[in-house]
Amino acid sequence: MKLPAIVGVPTDDTTQLMKKITAFAPATIANFNVGFDILGLSLGNMGDEITLTPNGTTENKILEIINGDNLPKEADKNCSSVVIRKMQEAQNEFIGVDIVLKKGFSSGSGLGSSSASSAAAAFGYNELIGKPYSTKELVAFAAEGERVACGSAHVDNVAPSLLGGIILSKGNKPSDILELPVLENLYAVTLYPHVKLNTSDSRRILKSTLSVATFSQQVGLMGAFVVSLYEKDYDLFSDSLQDLVIEPMRSLLIPKFKEMKQTALENKALAFGISGSGPSVFAMARGKENAEIIKNALEKIYQNVDISIQTYINPVCKGNGARIIL
Ligand code: HSE
Repeated sequence: MKLPAIVGVPTDDTTQLMKKITAFAPATIANFNVGFDILGLSLGNMGDEITLTPNGTTENKILEIINGDNLPKEADKNCSSVVIRKMQEAQNEFIGVDIVLKKGFSSGSGLGSSSASSAAAAFGYNELIGKPYSTKELVAFAAEGERVACGSAHVDNVAPSLLGGIILSKGNKPSDILELPVLENLYAVTLYPHVKLNTSDSRRILKSTLSVATFSQQVGLMGAFVVSLYEKDYDLFSDSLQDLVIEPMRSLLIPKFKEMKQTALENKALAFGISGSGPSVFAMARGKENAEIIKNALEKIYQNVDISIQTYINPVCKGNGARIIL
């Protein structure tokens, strides 16, 4: 729907032209072993929903957060309303909305929870005001939600949540957001151990120095990973998905990490690593059957541990990013 140009405060006539809208944006695996802060993939069918209803004022109000009692409801603190405010400031049009956010998975899991809310907010509000922005242009707005949620405006979660598939983001300008090919029949197994690990804490423990030798090896792995996608080479994909830099530091914070990695790889996982800043981990599988086997093997490791877990299997494919669902 093309909306009339609006300057400043909306009138009742304007807001009456706008329908309430519900947008969905998926969970994501950021870093994906070889691309700290610049690489991520969409988990497609698991994510957050946001319903936006124009309220005839210039203010945004969070009415309800379903499955998210622990999240802030103040408009200047919640990532979704912060993203919407940034878009309103950029447009210089303040079409206030009532917001109902429905969380589809746990916050603090390392599966891109704040990003899914931020991406859904950006995508939904853009649609509501007549799509002034392309989806790639929404990445920088959604990153502002990350800034408020975890203190850093990295885009490795919000870019794949908006666009779907596997995204390499060498910056946050639209021309920096690069959509990579996706191998066929690829599944992500994720396991979320219920231990508390904030992104900000998980970033603080990272050492800021790196040897030139490790830098060189890691750059080689990233290059090889990109080639593997274009060449549709599953062996190279598997060989290259290694994290030499971040995993040695962060894996110490994740119970049973070493055992899970060994078990996943013994059960034909193509790769294993930390999802975003953790504590969730991921394994990549070729085919759904392999994914099930890996998931069951990982679940067994936690059977006698006093930590509850959640596990998921999601297909990885192109074009499974944010969408309007109502
Ligand atoms: N790239 C980020 C990190 C993702 O690893 O800290 C977490 O949101």
